[in-house]
Amino acid sequence: MLLAPSILSVDFLRLGEVIEIINRSNADWLHLDVMDGVFVPNISFGFPILKQVVKVAKKPMDAHLMIVEPQKFITQFRDLGIHSLCVHYEACTHLHGTIQRIKGAGMKAGVALNPHTPVELLTDLIDELDIVLVMSVNPGFGGQTFIPRAIDKVRRLKAMINQRGLPTLIEVDGGINLETGKQMVGAGANVLVAGNSVFNSTNPTGMMKLMKKI
Ligand code: DX5
Ligand code: ZN
Repeated sequence: MLLAPSILSVDFLRLGEVIEIINRSNADWLHLDVMDGVFVPNISFGFPILKQVVKVAKKPMDAHLMIVEPQKFITQFRDLGIHSLCVHYEACTHLHGTIQRIKGAGMKAGVALNPHTPVELLTDLIDELDIVLVMSVNPGFGGQTFIPRAIDKVRRLKAMINQRGLPTLIEVDGGINLETGKQMVGAGANVLVAGNSVFNSTNPTGMMKLMKKI
């Protein structure tokens, strides 16, 4: 199981310090939530901040694009040194082409699904994907309550992946803590994203350690 802490709910005045904590932790990836105020009702951060983040981050960077027309920015994310790039199913008219372009740029390619989007819609694309990111909250904000229905989605997705013998990773994002993380891993998740449960705890390093033991 891989742990991908999200910096969305950290104190941005202390961003460098927080990234050092992640660098020294046993987390696997660094999850970066990019929002445009159009696809989701919130704006997080963009390239000026990311350019600073990549200077200090040592973990592979996992960018979750909650933006419309993500295909416009593939090269810019590649140039930043992003390891995996996830675009939303709901934001892409030509999703297959976008995935091909992400892989062509040398990054791992992922598709994120909003809570209302069934995993079965990936039937004709799953073979192409490195990652499927199952949202267990409506994207846009950290610290929201986990939607239990997402557990069954992960189960169904795992069955689809196993049936075809694919190496596709299942990443889960939203309201993940020690309890919901355990349920998601039990259902077949491979990557846990955690924001609030790590950075609003009294000991983020200790919490990441505990989460890695799930
Ligand atoms: C929400 C983001 C998440 C968020 C998770 O739109 O995609 O990555 O940071 O935060 P928590 O773990 O607080 O739900
Ligand atoms: Zn995210």
